[in-house]
Amino acid sequence: MARRKIALIGAGQIGGTLALLAGLRRLGDVVMYDVVSDLPQGKALDLLHLAPVFQCDFSIKGTNDIADIAGADVCIVTSGLARKPGMSRDDLVRTNAEIIRSVGAGIKEYAPNAFVIVVTNPLDAMAWLMREATGFAPAKVAGMAGVLDSARYRAFLAEELNVSVASVSAFVLGGHGDDMVPVRSFTTVNGVPVSHLVSSERLDAIEKRVRGAGGEIVALLKTGSAFYSPAASAIEMAESYLFDQRKVVAAAASCTGQYGVTGGLYIGVPVIIGAGGIEKVVEIPISEGEQAELAASVERVKGLIALLG
Ligand code: LAC
Repeated sequence: MARRKIALIGAGQIGGTLALLAGLRRLGDVVMYDVVSDLPQGKALDLLHLAPVFQCDFSIKGTNDIADIAGADVCIVTSGLARKPGMSRDDLVRTNAEIIRSVGAGIKEYAPNAFVIVVTNPLDAMAWLMREATGFAPAKVAGMAGVLDSARYRAFLAEELNVSVASVSAFVLGGHGDDMVPVRSFTTVNGVPVSHLVSSERLDAIEKRVRGAGGEIVALLKTGSAFYSPAASAIEMAESYLFDQRKVVAAAASCTGQYGVTGGLYIGVPVIIGAGGIEKVVEIPISEGEQAELAASVERVKGLIALLG
């Protein structure tokens, strides 16, 4: 069977980490594209030299020619400006929209059958724009945010309870902004509702930290935003697609009535990712309060999309 081809659009901090993880987890051959000359080539050469050490036979190519993504099975898009301290994810909207339009045209031309995972912020609006730019079926374009936001919630809860992260299951839905919605009512420790184990005051504080976690990292790093955990989260989505794992994860997906979200708008919801891409948006009976928070988050995403013209 031919090896799968993973195209990484953007060779920044997340792109480089994606290439490393795709190689280590043996997803297939990697092509890393960037407009900056020599950067993807340099990272690819470095990673090529890692392959014999870990005995992973992947080929990796760095390129400044978008045509090299030809025939990719998965495209993970990270290109765009990252946040600097003091910037919201939404401040990036106009600049990154131009980049997504141009990359989307390239994907449409050279990788028409790919499953596209968008990581560029503001996430939900950029995932929506990518769907528009490629004209792909909505199932073939997703945004990576919910896996990461849920992982942050899980990590903080595991720390709070001093238990394995593997025992904590959580969903964070809504837009990937400070108004994201940690769904407390469906967050459990091996099936035990988290509200039985952690006080509501502590949960309020933990959820506030989850909402601001991306910004907390930006403030610490000063020159960029998180990259290890966003890369790992996108790889989880790519793997579920490539190996038809049908994992249930939170991701930005096109909604057609689910959770009251209509018109193909992209927002973070629970989905099944399998060989068909986003195979299903899973509807869970979130609480009235959570539904109201989700509706507010949807309005913010709509406002961003309106700015795109
Ligand atoms: C974050 C950026 C990647 O949440 O949006 O860290």
